[in-house]
Amino acid sequence: MELKSNTQIPFHLPTLTGKEAMFIQELLSDPALINEGIYASKVEGFFGSLYPKGISRTTKSCTQAIELAALLLEIGSGDEVIMPSFTHVSTANPFVLRGAIPVFVDITPDTMNIDEALIEDAITEKTKAIITPHYGGVGCEMDTITEIARRHNLAVIEDNAHGILATYKNKALGSFGDISCISFDYQKNITCHQGGAITINSKNLENKFYNSYDFGTNKREFLAGNVKHYEWMDMGSNYPLSELDATFLCAQLEESHTITENRLYSWNLYYETLWQLCLAEKIVLPKIPAYCDHNGHIFYIHVTEESQRNKLISYLANEGIVALSHFQPLHSSAFGEKAGRFSGTDDFTTKLSQRIIRLPLYYNMKQSDISFISEKVIAFFG
Ligand SMILES: Cc1ncc(COP(=O)(O)O)c(C=O)c1O
Repeated sequence: MELKSNTQIPFHLPTLTGKEAMFIQELLSDPALINEGIYASKVEGFFGSLYPKGISRTTKSCTQAIELAALLLEIGSGDEVIMPSFTHVSTANPFVLRGAIPVFVDITPDTMNIDEALIEDAITEKTKAIITPHYGGVGCEMDTITEIARRHNLAVIEDNAHGILATYKNKALGSFGDISCISFDYQKNITCHQGGAITINSKNLENKFYNSYDFGTNKREFLAGNVKHYEWMDMGSNYPLSELDATFLCAQLEESHTITENRLYSWNLYYETLWQLCLAEKIVLPKIPAYCDHNGHIFYIHVTEESQRNKLISYLANEGIVALSHFQPLHSSAFGEKAGRFSGTDDFTTKLSQRIIRLPLYYNMKQSDISFISEKVIAFFG
């Protein structure tokens, strides 16, 4: 196909602040620093301020953080975990790896998040936990969800892969669940190419967490001088980010508020320029609840049907713009059909996953590119 335009706007460019090389240079200039974990502690310090009541540690990915959450909560064979089907496979796999069954619940059309009103019907005597991905950094209804969990004695895990620095009722996403997990993969607002973090907000899980996080040993007690040797205490693994990755991450966390503001600026620009199409009922724009401050992680629109979505993606590709769909529902995927079950009816998950288009959005995106993309979307609808 011959492209109409020479403009090439990628869907994504990884965030780079310009400080990364300097930080890494500093680390390499003193080999002793590599083992001291100074940067890893700085990362943990950042999360200590964000989640003052929790304990936060880096992990090698958000997937690994959710796997650790499943281990800490002792999720086992036949247990059920409630989640939306419109999410990344890593919301579900960590539980399936432990023999548990994902129970999928429909999403709300406004935010693409789990519909909290449907959760209670999905609870059975086997339910152990609810996991809440905050799609695009827009908070799920955490007040209702934590209240349901409390009444039914269930754990809550926030899959906060998208949600760094976003808030729900003025509190950081990641502060509501017993455990929350974050991603720093290359497409996230803040990245070290591949990384994550876990926050433990429940006092009951703290000791188990310390052991499992340190290979399943009581190394922490040993380092504190409380025991003579450290030994194998529990199931665990090797979770921390390497110091090199933590150093890269540190450079970005220092700029995280600027990065978020910059993305929000771009997000709002799209929203304002596409508002007329929304008024004309050609597209639907995301709705952000008044009490949620998001972080500009994803800008998406909904069109009226899948064929139109595919045509718009091709039309934009022909104009040199990479726009993408998003998650294929887990419950109807080849493995998800066997591994889990859908509770209630699928009113929105499949329909909206077929209608969603994500437009390019990345740190320091040119304003003129956003205007160009918006113009092309408007032109598509004539
Ligand atoms: C909702 C959600 N959860 C979990 C993950 C997994 O994150 P990671 O790549 O850091 O393992 C992703 C990845 O994009 C995601 O979108």
